[in-house]
Amino acid sequence: MSEHNSSEWVIEAESLFRRFGALEVLKGISLRVEKGKMVAIVGKSGSGKSTLLHILGTLDTPDSGSVRVCNTHVSGLSGKALSALRSRHLGFVFQFHHLLPEFTALENVAMPALILGKSKREAFARAEELLGYLKLDNRSTHKPGQLSGGEQQRVAIGRALMNEPDIIMADEPSGNLDTETSVQVHQLLRQITTEMGKSLIIVTHNKELASLSDQVYEMKDGILTSQA
Ligand SMILES: Nc1ncnc2c1ncn2[C@@H]1O[C@H](COP(=O)(O)OP(=O)(O)OP(=O)(O)O)[C@@H](O)[C@H]1O
Ligand SMILES: [Mg+2]
Repeated sequence: MSEHNSSEWVIEAESLFRRFGALEVLKGISLRVEKGKMVAIVGKSGSGKSTLLHILGTLDTPDSGSVRVCNTHVSGLSGKALSALRSRHLGFVFQFHHLLPEFTALENVAMPALILGKSKREAFARAEELLGYLKLDNRSTHKPGQLSGGEQQRVAIGRALMNEPDIIMADEPSGNLDTETSVQVHQLLRQITTEMGKSLIIVTHNKELASLSDQVYEMKDGILTSQA
């Protein structure tokens, strides 16, 4: 592959294998995700979707196979280098928002930038802007416990966007929400990929919601199959 072509892919995974004891969860998975595209991964509970997402997000290591994130080979990087790579390129949204309960919506969104050493002024200005985009401007001083499930998840999306990642990884981001609110969260993520040019990898049980994506893969028996 030429250097020119390789730069179009934000994630390139080749022949990933992962087992837990006797259980072979990933049996040779290859996946490429293009810049600006939304990719959904569906599949039954226990089929290995989260395992794959964690490996693609450099939170877990495969037994064999390789992962490149924005043209950087992940294997062999130190913990410190991996965490720098994640801060720079990746944003995560989980099923349960994992917001910090004692901080406001604004502070939660700003946190990743503050951790990177950005000034409070700069971080809060960007967090305000993101909350506006997420239609949460009137919720910025609320703490997570004072927000609805959908609002909490939008704050978590804001936090994931804070450091301007190239890729957002979302693991069942609406698993905890009612149908209408989950549709809104998926539509918001779709809008973000289109308007901000982010790539999105989303794991979901819901095939209808997955259909908002550019591409859908099904995880089954340790293999990933393209659905559309
Ligand atoms: N750290 C671990 N140690 C042992 N087994 C694990 C570990 N992580 C995952 N597994 C097992 O690997 C299989 C795949 O798990 P995974 O969490 O990837 O599934 P999933 O597709 O995300 O399921 P769900 O839809 O329920 O979230 C499961 O059988 C799980 O029990
Ligand atoms: Mg899972």
